[in-house]
Amino acid sequence: MLKQSLKLMIPGPIQPDPAVLEAMGSPVPPHYGPAFTDFYNETLSLLRQVIQTSGDIFLMPGSGSAGIDACLGSALLTGEKLLVGINGFFGQRLVAIAESSGLVTVPVTAEWGQPLRSADFAAALDAHPDARAVAVVHLETSTTIANPIAEIGALCRQRGVLFFVDAVSSLGGLPFQMDDWGIDLMASATQKCLGAPPGLAPVAVGPRAWESIDRVPSSNHGWYTNLRVWRHYAEDWADWHPFPITMATNNVMALNASLKQLLAEGIATRLERYRGLALRLRQGLRQIGLRPYTPDEMLAPVLTAAYGPAGVPTGKIVSYLEREAGIKISGGLGALKDQIIRIGHMSPTTTDADIDETLAALRTFCEQNQGAP
Ligand SMILES: Cc1ncc(COP(=O)(O)O)c(C=O)c1O
Repeated sequence: MLKQSLKLMIPGPIQPDPAVLEAMGSPVPPHYGPAFTDFYNETLSLLRQVIQTSGDIFLMPGSGSAGIDACLGSALLTGEKLLVGINGFFGQRLVAIAESSGLVTVPVTAEWGQPLRSADFAAALDAHPDARAVAVVHLETSTTIANPIAEIGALCRQRGVLFFVDAVSSLGGLPFQMDDWGIDLMASATQKCLGAPPGLAPVAVGPRAWESIDRVPSSNHGWYTNLRVWRHYAEDWADWHPFPITMATNNVMALNASLKQLLAEGIATRLERYRGLALRLRQGLRQIGLRPYTPDEMLAPVLTAAYGPAGVPTGKIVSYLEREAGIKISGGLGALKDQIIRIGHMSPTTTDADIDETLAALRTFCEQNQGAP
């Protein structure tokens, strides 16, 4: 058996609360019948409070990318045009997913480390009046930058284009209001701020998205990730099996337990707690001489990046912390490889003591690697 003893300070998967792991390890129930159907529906209603939508919600077994695939592939036809915000690795990933469904993507870029600007989407929509949709990552996990979703959503409403948001690393950790922000489609994942193990992609679909989905042929882009298939079973088999496949029952049980903890704590209180961790970490990083990658005004409450000591590839810091302290942090992705470290504090179980322990290990590393060539 694989023994996991590392302290996870990465941007997902997170270490869930013991009660969530206990739910995950419960005896496996059948995925159909009235008892599991009620439980599934209860889980959706808990999730609804986090997503803040009156639209439809599905739990798709798979990782966040399955949900993204489902949203983009179901709502748009091969050859249709999509504006994609790119200011990091996961914006680029949205392009790859969209293009796998034959969509024509138009990049709307900002420098890595800077947020996307709604004015740039307005200009891109002027230049591409045939664009049907806009896709944006909420929290760009590669750079820790939160993009201005409410502003871009308001623009999309004004211009009558669909708005898809990748909330894989933000849902449950950053403010999120699907309906009020004009979001039509959203995909997330359970292994980050939702506090559960990997395995489910929550997907939410609003009425304008359904209009777009119902416009496309039923054979559009596959079956498993076709949202029309998911709606069909949610309606036709509502009383006993409201999804088309064998549901990942224990993942639903874990998510249910985690969502109950989140709502019992209160979303605002949880977010404030994460912000406190972020501020503590930033202060400690500065004391060690590791400059945060973004200014405090742009902090992500659940994820912090910092530059390493001059001349030290940050991969070395990541290996050191794992080897010497049993703490798993992340390095930079893509263009930021070996440039930054990224420390996740998106688990509901993360405490001040975890932040302090991580800082202590980083301090020792820095003391041993001062002025390294
Ligand atoms: C913003 C963002 N989008 C998409 C993904 C891909 O999610 P998954 O690995 O769950 O498919 C990630 C994973 O880290 C992410 O952070």
